Amino acid sequence: MGRGIKRIFKKVTMKGIILAGGSGTRLRPMTKVTNKHLLPVYDRPMIYYPLETLAKCGVKEAMIVSGRGHAGHFLELLKSGEEFKMRLSYGVQEEAGGIAQALGLCEDFADNEKIMVILGDNIFQDYRQIKRAAVDFARQKRGAKIIVKEVPDPQRFGVAYLKGDKIEKIIEKPKNSKSNLAVTGCYMYDKQVWKVIKELKPSGRGELEITDVNNFYVRQNTMTFEMLKGWWTDAGTVSSLLRASNLVARELGEN
Ligand code: DAU
Repeated sequence: MGRGIKRIFKKVTMKGIILAGGSGTRLRPMTKVTNKHLLPVYDRPMIYYPLETLAKCGVKEAMIVSGRGHAGHFLELLKSGEEFKMRLSYGVQEEAGGIAQALGLCEDFADNEKIMVILGDNIFQDYRQIKRAAVDFARQKRGAKIIVKEVPDPQRFGVAYLKGDKIEKIIEKPKNSKSNLAVTGCYMYDKQVWKVIKELKPSGRGELEITDVNNFYVRQNTMTFEMLKGWWTDAGTVSSLLRASNLVARELGEN
């Protein structure tokens, strides 16, 4: 790696945000008492994975948003963030009003800087491509960047539709999708995001949708994306939680 590149890598000074609110209904009864993101994925609590991804990308300061009744557990587990060589702050989402609503709580923390957001139940095999995307985004004048991945079950995710090399639109959980490009839970935004969130209307399921935020940038023609090569999974259903543990075990050479 050339010296110049190393210098650019060091310049990734985005603030990190992990969203770990929501009610985890698809993992009941495991989430009746415990927050979903504290459940084990192979040998670590789920939240360790997005935190490690942020840390490896060079993020030094992150905010974790969790639901009422759980913030203390995260604080107990992660403390000031020393283990991850990061400074951690904590926020509380009173009701599970959607991913974009949880993100809206981080405006003061972000302090007009660009941000990298990772959903607390998203696990990425390799951080390097995300770090590269972050370096590119640091140089992007304005807008947003998402990470997309080809999947066999796009109906479970936000799905990106391409026209040429641009994203034309994103649809949240389409029933019959012609595209198999899932929008992963790693998003990079400029400061416009805060105004966009304030103007959102709740969706049919009563949530402020991150897909609506992303479509603002698509319409503005400032949305860029990175196509992920390594594996990626969420861990928010019983089957994806098992899949996540198996993927991590295999990665560690233990399965
Ligand atoms: O995993 C990627 C997918 O995540 C995207 O492709 C979808 O576009 C996006 O909507 C989301 O879909 P899910 O249906 O899987 O989202 P879920 O409700 O499971 O929430 C994912 C995480 O977001 C969850 O682990 C914690 C955080 N969250 C969620 C809600 C609803 C919050 O912090 N607060 C919330 O109110």
